Amino acid sequence: MSAFLKTSSYAKINWTLDVLFKREDGYHELRTIYQTISIKDELRFSETSGAIEIHCDDSRVPCDATNLVYKAAMALRDSTKTSKGVRIEIDKRIPVAAGLGGGSSNAAVTLLALIKLWQIEIDQSELIRIAASLGSDVPFFLIGGTALGVGRGEEVYPLEEASCDDLLLANPGFAVPTHEAYKKLSRLTRPEAASIIPFSLMAAKGIRELPLAARNELEEPVLAAYPEIAEVKRRLLSLGARHALMSGSGATVFGVFDNSQVAGRALSELRASGYWAECARTVDRQEYHATIFQ
Ligand code: C5P
Repeated sequence: MSAFLKTSSYAKINWTLDVLFKREDGYHELRTIYQTISIKDELRFSETSGAIEIHCDDSRVPCDATNLVYKAAMALRDSTKTSKGVRIEIDKRIPVAAGLGGGSSNAAVTLLALIKLWQIEIDQSELIRIAASLGSDVPFFLIGGTALGVGRGEEVYPLEEASCDDLLLANPGFAVPTHEAYKKLSRLTRPEAASIIPFSLMAAKGIRELPLAARNELEEPVLAAYPEIAEVKRRLLSLGARHALMSGSGATVFGVFDNSQVAGRALSELRASGYWAECARTVDRQEYHATIFQ
């Protein structure tokens, strides 16, 4: 009988995101605090004799060689010289290109699952190298929980866990391509990287209080270009969110609520207005690793 694995692939938000400067490689130097949350896709893996096949229940997701999950499987196969194949079925629940890291999470989970399914050995440093080659957010999903991301976001350090049971996420239903969000940046505020690390660490330590200083420097240019996203943020705040911030490069905005009743009412209101909306909570590193494999 061939091997089979069922996995959870969690989404992320960014509690903070500072963009320092444009680097010589074309990427932007970041300081961000990542957080895994309870919204998740399900991925199922079954071994094949050699073919790599992707199937997805959402027709907007390409199932060809451009899919990050396909690239992850190929990169792992190349690196470990195995000739094994896999059929991967994706049940998509995380909105696509929405600032929630869905594709990156799927790719990281694919790496972790295929190491088990194909029974291969790989150095941790090589695994991180492959993850970083797939996308800036992918290495974060190898660790999960609350983590500081530096460099282009691919260099990650675990932080003390932040915790929130009453998050509400919403977006206007369209995608914002990540490269487009970065292109809209006109003002790169602080060229000196070192001075920003203490800010991010301070913000992480105080995250239980959610400091007013928490910000996403991609938010202003993206909200200016897409007033519909600014409207989502306004609605979250007027419906009782204590704090609301765009996640990653958008279009999703997360709201932090004080209790589940207010968050639940806001969820109904936003859905009635035609927005994509979902309640969520934080997922810490321990829960993340205990529940990736179902
Ligand atoms: O790394 P990833 O493939 O997710 O990045 C997508 C695009 O977002 C990049 O091609 C680049 O335009 C932009 N980006 C950036 N600086 C980062 C991360 C992403 O400019 N730190």
